[in-house]
Amino acid sequence: MNILLTGGTGYIGSHAAIALKEAGHNIVIQDNFSNSSPLVLNRLALILGEEVPFIEGDIRNTNLVKAILQEFSVDAVMHFAGLKSVGESVLEPLKYYENNVLGSLSLLRAMKESNVKKIVFSSSATVYGIPRYLPINEAHPLKPVNPYGRTKLQVEQILEDEAECDALLKVVNLRYFNPVGAHKSGLIGEEPRGMPNNLMPFIARVAGGKLKELHIYGDDYDTFDGTGVRDYIHVMDLAEGHVAALNYLPHSSGFETFNLGTGDGCSVLQMIEVYRKASGREIPFRIVGRRQGDISSCYAAPNKANQILLWSAKLSLFEMCMSSWSFQEQLVN
Ligand code: NAD
Ligand code: UD1
Repeated sequence: MNILLTGGTGYIGSHAAIALKEAGHNIVIQDNFSNSSPLVLNRLALILGEEVPFIEGDIRNTNLVKAILQEFSVDAVMHFAGLKSVGESVLEPLKYYENNVLGSLSLLRAMKESNVKKIVFSSSATVYGIPRYLPINEAHPLKPVNPYGRTKLQVEQILEDEAECDALLKVVNLRYFNPVGAHKSGLIGEEPRGMPNNLMPFIARVAGGKLKELHIYGDDYDTFDGTGVRDYIHVMDLAEGHVAALNYLPHSSGFETFNLGTGDGCSVLQMIEVYRKASGREIPFRIVGRRQGDISSCYAAPNKANQILLWSAKLSLFEMCMSSWSFQEQLVN
């Protein structure tokens, strides 16, 4: 199939680009580089042995998206483009609604007018809000607790409404848990601008000597070692989940949601220990107070994706840390 990847030079989109090409699909990427670098395109070309077709631009430019859909005879869209910082979304909610919600509306309008009827959407486990039970399945109530999460839920609802009225539209809505790690080449990975907010990129910088120590946000949670527990999933497993979603799209009844996670919880202290072994570096840390808005534990019930998409996460925590470290070393050198 011919696939448009919006936001395809970003962290997850660039890894999905590799998995899609390796599965035999043609791809074209659109990105406005608001949170990624043109260097990613050179890296992708090195990994894939060929240039990836790329158009620079914003998805809110409906005419541009329409032109891409038509020029590349796009069959399906993978919609990664979006802003994703929880903290920033609290400070600048309008920016998030404008980019994530208006951007998605523009993309859907372009698809409608170009008769493109298949889309895979990058949603997040953040739409579940505070877990009422664990593991979290797709039937868990949806109550996001910040503007970023609400933009994701609103786009889900728009997609569901659109699929309801257009019997030909097929939507696979993927709720990612905590994507980490990098492609095995070490050439692409997660490279946040400024100070990292998320655990794995922070640990990577401490291991690489760029930051002095990790602050662990609380060791008094109701978990087996008191630190927060999450469902970390290797970004290449997540990328393979997109290939599986694409294979499933023609069979989808309209709008369908799947969790993409491993189903296993890992604590902050466990992650530090595995990263220490994978990198051979010490990870100095200090326990500080809880981070506002944090939850104790969150992990997926991935059974639906296992059974219906015929996909499951395969790569271990060690492989997540090893690949993150390879990428970090390449950045340091
Ligand atoms: P990312 O920031 O690395 O990638 C997003 C890409 O979209 C960037 O390259 C950015 O430049 C581009 N972009 C943003 N707005 C755009 C616009 N209006 N027009 C064109 N391009 C635009 O983020 P990521 O981690 O790769 O996340 C991809 C998607 O997955 C996002 O929608 C995010 O909300 C979702 N998601 C991410 C995580 C995670 O932990 N990384 C978890 C759950 C869901
Ligand atoms: C965060 C976002 C969530 C988003 C997810 C994407 C918040 C409140 N939530 O979730 O919406 O979908 O990223 O992956 O930002 N930790 C530390 N020290 C650090 C960083 C993190 O101890 O410097 C701990 C956290 O307290 C948590 C765990 O590490 O227990 C994971 O944190 P993080 O990587 O930020 O992910 P989430 O909190 O799950």
